[in-house]
Amino acid sequence: MRTLISNIKQLVQVEEHPRQRVCGKDMAQMQTVNDAYLIVEDDHFAGYGTMSELPEQTFDHEVNAEGRMVFPSFCDSHTHLVYSGSREIEYIDKIRGLSYEEIALRGGGILNSAKRVQEASEEQLFDDAMQRLQQMIGFGSGAVEIKSGYGMTVEAEMKMLRVIRRLKESSPLTIKSTLLGAHGIPMEYRGRQEAFVDLVVNEMIPQAAAEGLADYVDVFCDQGFFTVHDTERMLEAGARHGLRGKIHANELACSGGIQVAVKYDALSCDHLEFTGEAEIECLKNSNTMPTVLPGAAFFLNMRHAPVRQMMDAGLPVALASDCNPGSSPSTNMQLILSMACINYRMLPEEAFNATTINSAYAMGVSDQLGSIAVGKKANFYITKPIPTYEYMPYAYGENKVEVAFLNGKVV
Ligand code: NIG
Ligand code: FE
Repeated sequence: MRTLISNIKQLVQVEEHPRQRVCGKDMAQMQTVNDAYLIVEDDHFAGYGTMSELPEQTFDHEVNAEGRMVFPSFCDSHTHLVYSGSREIEYIDKIRGLSYEEIALRGGGILNSAKRVQEASEEQLFDDAMQRLQQMIGFGSGAVEIKSGYGMTVEAEMKMLRVIRRLKESSPLTIKSTLLGAHGIPMEYRGRQEAFVDLVVNEMIPQAAAEGLADYVDVFCDQGFFTVHDTERMLEAGARHGLRGKIHANELACSGGIQVAVKYDALSCDHLEFTGEAEIECLKNSNTMPTVLPGAAFFLNMRHAPVRQMMDAGLPVALASDCNPGSSPSTNMQLILSMACINYRMLPEEAFNATTINSAYAMGVSDQLGSIAVGKKANFYITKPIPTYEYMPYAYGENKVEVAFLNGKVV
């Protein structure tokens, strides 16, 4: 099946020679083709160019995109999309002045969601998550990493991972699964955190790996949560079982999380509000993708990660939604683009690179997704009529996606 998308006002983020990731000042560059065509063959891109060079061929199907732009789908490399219920009451507590850590200490926060996930059926968790995935597709995402982490027991963590496996099988999105056994310390383990880490190391990680339920392992390495020593133990156990790290680090303090991520060659370290020169230095010459989550910083009204300093130091930066009920209840990557530009002063090109190629890298899919390149998976969207690509972050709050294609098909 060959489909032609014709008369595209602008084809954005094309790559003749696909890169694994985009670093430093290269992030301000993005290739586009004006008045373009795009050819999709089955589930992948087969060619593109300007309309004046359109080859004389017949197609099974043609879509006239007149006045519209085409972008590769966003890759959302950090989400907690499987959860039950919402937490708007805590949100009001936050408005009244309680901190994230204070809410967590009272048994709210992550533990609140954990209780609900433990009680929910697999079916219910699946249905709720499927709805969120549909929303994401509508906002232009084509790939998503989903974490467990609201289970807190071996049984409930495996339940969450089974839900993610079913989502992988049922959704047209490309999905990666991460075991986040160490997201919070359950009440019954307070004061004996080592014993909970033992449970993650000796039971959760081996079981998830044996059943092929996880692609990566995550740890919330931060002040008031898991220490560098805990994190080392879990990343080592992950490595023994073939699971690479993708960790939460430096959201609440200079926790040493970035250094431990690099030491264990984690694929990404995420949040990074507390990042100084030593952390930036450490990330240089590493394979670890610094990933910033503007939705969580916005929602919790936190300081912003020093994205400009990172890029000036030659680092790549990825962005993701962190979709979760406690600190970022949104599936909308277009809003993330706007927040990147407004709050982090990223240029639109930098924000697009961070939400496509670099976020694809941060979830291990940049060889097949993240740009429009011949041979890559045909995950893309056609916009409504818009004047420029800069309009995407500029018109915040408006959904600019008209139609999404995943695996070469309209969804
Ligand atoms: O990425 N920082 C840790 N974990 C989540 C928050 C989860 C929650 O509050 O439920 C995050 O922001
Ligand atoms: Fe998170």
